[in-house]
Amino acid sequence: MANENHGSPREEASLLSHSPSTSNQSQPCSPKPIRLVQDLPEELVHAGWEKCWSRRENRPYYFNRFTNQSLWEMPVLGQHDVIIEIPVTPTGPSVPSSPSVPGTPTLKIWGTSPEDKQQAALLRPTEVYWDLDIQTNAVIKHRGPSEVLPPHPEVELLRSQLILKLRQHYRELCQQREGIEPPRESFNRWMLERKVVDKGSDPLLPSNCEPVVSPSMFREIMNDIPIRLSRIKFREEAKRLLFKYAEAARRLIESRSASPDSRKVVKWNVEDTFSWLRKDHSASKEDYMDRLEHLRRQCGPHVSAAAKDSVEGICSKIYHISLEYVKRIREKHLAILKENNIPEEGEAPEVEPRLVYCYPVRLAVSAPPMPNVEMHMENNVVCIRYKGEMVKVSRNYFSKLWLLYRYSCIDDSAFERFLPRVWCLLRRYQMMFGVGLYEGTGLQGSLPVHIFEALHRLFGVSFECFASPLNCYFRQYCSAFPDTDGYFGSRGPCLDFSPLSGSFEANPPFCEELMDAMVSHFEKLLESSPEPLSFIVFIPEWREPPTPALTRMEQSRFKRHQLVLPAFEHEYRSGSQHVCKKEEMHYKAVHNTAVIFLQNDPGFAKWGPTPERLQELSTAYRQSGRGHGSSSSSSSSSEAKDWDSGREQGPSREPHPT
Ligand SMILES: C[S@@+](CC[C@H](N)C(=O)[O-])C[C@H]1O[C@@H](n2cnc3c(N)ncnc32)[C@H](O)[C@@H]1O
Repeated sequence: MANENHGSPREEASLLSHSPSTSNQSQPCSPKPIRLVQDLPEELVHAGWEKCWSRRENRPYYFNRFTNQSLWEMPVLGQHDVIIEIPVTPTGPSVPSSPSVPGTPTLKIWGTSPEDKQQAALLRPTEVYWDLDIQTNAVIKHRGPSEVLPPHPEVELLRSQLILKLRQHYRELCQQREGIEPPRESFNRWMLERKVVDKGSDPLLPSNCEPVVSPSMFREIMNDIPIRLSRIKFREEAKRLLFKYAEAARRLIESRSASPDSRKVVKWNVEDTFSWLRKDHSASKEDYMDRLEHLRRQCGPHVSAAAKDSVEGICSKIYHISLEYVKRIREKHLAILKENNIPEEGEAPEVEPRLVYCYPVRLAVSAPPMPNVEMHMENNVVCIRYKGEMVKVSRNYFSKLWLLYRYSCIDDSAFERFLPRVWCLLRRYQMMFGVGLYEGTGLQGSLPVHIFEALHRLFGVSFECFASPLNCYFRQYCSAFPDTDGYFGSRGPCLDFSPLSGSFEANPPFCEELMDAMVSHFEKLLESSPEPLSFIVFIPEWREPPTPALTRMEQSRFKRHQLVLPAFEHEYRSGSQHVCKKEEMHYKAVHNTAVIFLQNDPGFAKWGPTPERLQELSTAYRQSGRGHGSSSSSSSSSEAKDWDSGREQGPSREPHPT
């Protein structure tokens, strides 16, 4: 029977000359893989199968571009559309050996016309911050397709307009009710926190949450009441801040309902501060700061109690507006499906209990036809426009998206939906980031390339638990949005992803509730799997007060080791890496980072943090990420360099001869 391609030697496998379809090769917008006339049943094509020619064996074979599986015989649908199949036995699953050595994706066929050359150049990355050739060692239980609705530019446009409105409502509520600007990133963190508990239908906006009042939004607003305490450099600033705080505390306690005792305490402390300010002219910056701290301690609880109802009101109002918006978005979405005679619930195929290497999220509902989007280049930036709304991505990352799509998408072999889907994806992340200067980028910063290389080499890491198609290093990763990102390789949100085995890196966005839920999730997985499982977690070492996630991981029975990377001595890659300039690609961390190894016993035996491995990781950290990019040895880059020449690179994906 058929064999899988387990590390067959690299072979120059240019199939071009054998392919009867080469007459089509100059179609610039149809970068189809090299394949023979496709006499395959439609379902097999949709499942990622294509028929290719083996020059070595001089006969056809079948290749699945999604799983990289190769067969000599025509595949039978349902039998070969996963990489491995292992019956679940009562004694527990056994985990397969590593999947096959990655094959370079089938080369598309470029012609020689000027348009083809232009296209080829567009899709050739010049800097590579990823290695999409590394295959996964993450094993999961086979799961059914997701019920989330397929993205559509019209729906995404409406969603983005409503999110902008919601952000504006939030700003106005903070200003009008509390006299403050919305705390920086608090709306973005609100979206992340809400998604931890949300059971609603929208991929971005919450609509079914318990509790209604978001603890993260409440905490962040409260923290800035009565005023935001910014970092102080000079004595005069400290004096002004103390004065402002005292005034704001008095104003607040007078204007809200508060107990007589609270009023008394606040007023007394405020008067005391004013008289100290009037008297003491020789105070230093530290004296003012001490006094401020004292005032905060005395008045803080009373001020918070007086503001509580109003702040809860803001959180609840924002949530309820979001709920209304979700209804409108869904109505629009369903109307588009109906227009195209697509049922809103996909067929639920029976899911067999078998173990498979993880694969991208599939959607149960078929995608409706896509409207046209326009694309043009401005210098090195690809601009994609739908109904006048422009999204941008650097050429480099555009080509990365193209590669990811090519690896992962199974319903669009002609790439006809590629551009509209890229538009939806970029628009989604634009909305998630926020509209302020540099907003959102702190939540998207990633480890430098050489750290990912070291994690893969030393600890077998092949998967990021928190990523996006824009910032992922591996081609397998979890991300916030299964609908837009699944076509680009996402395995869905981290908390919905339950591997039995594998080695993972986790660099979550800095949202306390999400980080806490992540720890619970990882501990549950580590407890229940008898197979090697390892998570290397990178989180800020916040100690004042310590975040629950950090404390819990430090006390976890699965903790094998903890490293601390000192502030300003290590770097991250910019959260805007897909649009920023090269010189802005890396930045120094302003906080310590804690690196924590959580592993079960088999995981520890396989990928344990031995002194030698830790030494090598520390050495990698001493390197700067600034030197990285085009120098990456990823074969994706070498492949990219060869696109023009029409030669296939990398290990052959043909089956072993039988
Ligand atoms: C700090 S960045 C990580 C960047 C890079 N992938 C890394 O691992 O270094 C966190 C990423 O997590 C994504 N994210 C947010 N919520 C998520 C969720 N529930 N599951 C998976 N990823 C999520 C964010 O969009 C962001 O891209």
